[in-house]
Amino acid sequence: MAKPTIVTMPGDGIGNQVLPEAIRVLSAVGFEADYIHADIGWECWINEGNALPERTVELLAKHKLGLFGAITSKPKKEADAELKPALRGKGYTYYSPIVTMRQRFGLDVCLRPCIGFPGNPLNFVRKKPGEGYEEPQVNVVVFRQNTEGLYAGVEWTNPPEQVRVAFATHPKFKAFQNVKGEDLAVSLRIITRPAAERICRAAFDYAKKFGYKNVTICEKPNVLRETSGLMEEVAKHVARDYPGIPLWSTNIDAQTMWLTKNPEDYGCIIASNLFGDVISDAFAGLVGGLGFAASGNIGKEVSVFEPTHGSAPKYAELNPPIVNPIAMILSAAMMLDHIGESEKASRVRAAIAEVVREGKVRTYDMMRISGGPKAIAQGAASTTQMTDAILAKLERASETAGAAD
Ligand code: NAI
Ligand code: MG
Repeated sequence: MAKPTIVTMPGDGIGNQVLPEAIRVLSAVGFEADYIHADIGWECWINEGNALPERTVELLAKHKLGLFGAITSKPKKEADAELKPALRGKGYTYYSPIVTMRQRFGLDVCLRPCIGFPGNPLNFVRKKPGEGYEEPQVNVVVFRQNTEGLYAGVEWTNPPEQVRVAFATHPKFKAFQNVKGEDLAVSLRIITRPAAERICRAAFDYAKKFGYKNVTICEKPNVLRETSGLMEEVAKHVARDYPGIPLWSTNIDAQTMWLTKNPEDYGCIIASNLFGDVISDAFAGLVGGLGFAASGNIGKEVSVFEPTHGSAPKYAELNPPIVNPIAMILSAAMMLDHIGESEKASRVRAAIAEVVREGKVRTYDMMRISGGPKAIAQGAASTTQMTDAILAKLERASETAGAAD
């Protein structure tokens, strides 16, 4: 395979701290690539009125593979107030660059593995029916539809007249007919059959490839009869092509209630955009939380891999940096898997697993202490120390392999 070029988008805040750590790990594992930096995030919004500049879009379109750190986003009023004075009042609107990127490139399949590393002190522990406690092995991969649903971006405050007229054709809109425009906000939940089919098929293919024992469609078809109804219908239809893999159906509210009851029973979980966002965070919380939550946004051509966490501005200026780089490193490992470098990906995960199991090097989140400047003095590893520990395991593993030759 030709040497790939990876578009690196550290973005804002701690994105700049964790992304270089992932690249150190990729190099250590012998992955050969060129890296090209691309701008994204709050600074781009302030200075250019666009958090996802066209030059970044072009780089992604050209090179097809992206590693992304995190961005800062702020509510509408603050966004407008922080825009550079020369750009104000010129019709610039803040759009989330992540959502835009997903929509521009049709990154419609979002993969979020929530897999517990044994020995992680943040893993969920449950009381046994009798005496004592047990730690269920959670191994769930959430497939979140990434471009539609409630995050499609079709929304209004004070919808234009023709929209109100269209809504009025639905009998249920009567209840809202007399609400004044500025008092009425509407977000549309859009589900299309082709996108629903792609996310369902991606989940079943993955389950088949990696031996997951079931697939669950997690929606709310009893209330959202049209949109969740379509998701469920498509899931059932797709399931017929995978006879060995049972399809379960849960409601999003009940699923979060059952989360801690039997999380080890679930394999792949499919959900529309908002529900997938919720349920993937919920499962991530059982296996270490934001410091461990990786994700991939997979399109037909372009794919972008990113930790689930945001830019954590309150830690962005700390020196040494204290945040956990594992979520970013696991995202890079997902990229390796995606491009057929699974052996390297496995080595990365094995090295992380060993560091976690040993428990000698832990970032502040793994110690359950607060993440301020005092964390290091309390024994927390810095961001770079955590990466160093992972690199040391990789090195040892390759020495051992070498010795065996
Ligand atoms: P956040 O994920 O940035 O941080 C929440 C808290 O989680 C942090 O204060 C920290 O305690 C912890 N945390 C996050 N990453 C961690 C790591 N790698 N290691 C250890 N602890 C970690 O979410 P928050 O504070 O809600 O948002 C901050 C900014 O990030 C906002 O502007 C928000 O819009 C943006 N954001 C961006 C996302 C993205 O780029 N994908 C996702 C979520 C939020
Ligand atoms: Mg989220």
